[in-house]
Amino acid sequence: MYKANAVSENRLPELLKAMPKAELHIHIEGSLEPELIFKLAKRNQVNLPYSSVEELRGAYAFTNLQSFLDIYYAGASVLIKEEDFYDMAWEYFLKASRDNVVHAELFFDPQTHTSRGIAMSTIMGGLSRACREASEKLNISSALILCFLRHLSEEEALLTLDEALPFRDQFIGVGLDSSELGHPPEKFAKVFAKCKGLGLRLVAHAGEEGPTSYIWSALESLGVERIDHGVQSLGDPALIKYLSDKRLPLTVCPLSNVKLKVFSKLSDHNIGQMLDQGLCVTINSDDPAYFGGYINQNFLETFSALGLGTSQAYAFARNSFEASFASTEQKEKWFHALKLCFESFIEND
Ligand code: ADE
Ligand code: ZN
Repeated sequence: MYKANAVSENRLPELLKAMPKAELHIHIEGSLEPELIFKLAKRNQVNLPYSSVEELRGAYAFTNLQSFLDIYYAGASVLIKEEDFYDMAWEYFLKASRDNVVHAELFFDPQTHTSRGIAMSTIMGGLSRACREASEKLNISSALILCFLRHLSEEEALLTLDEALPFRDQFIGVGLDSSELGHPPEKFAKVFAKCKGLGLRLVAHAGEEGPTSYIWSALESLGVERIDHGVQSLGDPALIKYLSDKRLPLTVCPLSNVKLKVFSKLSDHNIGQMLDQGLCVTINSDDPAYFGGYINQNFLETFSALGLGTSQAYAFARNSFEASFASTEQKEKWFHALKLCFESFIEND
């Protein structure tokens, strides 16, 4: 729709920051900044195995997904009370607002908290309150997606679903995250079938570190509507055809992929090729407090490393709305706002 050089190169960063966008792959526990971890640890008298913010940040040198998850679950141990969950999500929404995010679908990991004795009502209460305030004060619409931890059993996922059902009106869907290798999607076929029956939307992490067979399994055994990451899909032409024919979205997180050594450097990332192959691919931050940046940082660094331009910027933003679980009517409004934003850059160019 927009020609590659429609906006001069030196205004591209400004456009990337200003354009309205949706974020569809953000683990809210992954937005917990070291400063907030220390503040909450003090407030809740939780002992941390780090003596300072700097020391904690210094430990953020990951070799793969598991090395990150170990630190990420330790960081989440400071979340005890309703207001802790609220503060975490509110801080995210403030940053998202600065990045011109107009819609966010937030993952949360209840088992990380219920296993420490935190009540589901505490988690849901804090997160839902932040979502309501994001709508009222920042004009950001949002929704919550409950993720099952795939390193735990399906029985534990089913129990977690039962615990969450009194709050059914506060989350729109379920996902699957945590350690991918050795935990293929089909392990969770029963719980996902139950969720589908309850009218929940379905997503799953697949093809982050795992093989393309895990992406197929997420599609076929779980019936997911979006794939989180899915960067391994380029190895399988039949899969690319299936995903592009069906416009099945992939929520890609470029800075995460580099920090977790899925790609050795950003200029090696395949997201540009994914877009070229006709996939409905989006850019997201995953765990921004751990991976060096929020959504706009992901856009800026990816565009710079891969030499992407205006037409790709438009495609990623448009895809983010298309791939969201918002209503068709709401999507049309965002498409229109996006068009106006691009036109304002072209006119003033
Ligand atoms: N939980 C938080 N971030 C994750 C990621 N990138 N992959 C799997 N599980 C996660
Ligand atoms: Zn993720």
